[in-house]
Amino acid sequence: MKKFFVIAITGFTIILLSNCSSAKKTTKVEVPKLTYETNMTATIMSNCTPCHIPSKGGNKKAYDNYANVKTDIDEMIRRIELNPGDRGFMPFKKAKLSDSTIAVFKQWKADGMLEK
Ligand code: HEC
Repeated sequence: MKKFFVIAITGFTIILLSNCSSAKKTTKVEVPKLTYETNMTATIMSNCTPCHIPSKGGNKKAYDNYANVKTDIDEMIRRIELNPGDRGFMPFKKAKLSDSTIAVFKQWKADGMLEK
């Protein structure tokens, strides 16, 4: 009887340990979170210029700074998801942004709107 327990416990432990190591192997690599400085500035600079970039002569709401982008992110996403011709569509009078560009705005928001 005692032997049986020893064998049972040993077997159980081996199963546990092997599960541990296989669990480690399948752990996903962490995807870094998007930040304003790394991901948003370039996206905004190339798509919302010149209108929203004062240094480029833009006279619409400035999106060349973290504070304004953070405050307006919902409205920015709402507008870039509209279609050309819809009232409020952005970028104004230009083609709709690609899905992957729109995804940068959404993912940055989902990641917690980090500055850097
Ligand atoms: C060609 C010029 C132009 C470009 C490029 C442009 N916008 Fe605009 N934007 C405007 C104008 C004009 C308005 C004001 C009229 C309106 O509210 O629809 C405006 C207003 C906005 C507003 C409302 C701001 C407020 O005062 O509440 C948001 C949000 C916005 N734009 C987002 C964007 C985003 C995001 C981009 C880049 C993907 C972009 N726009 C690109 C011209 C532009």
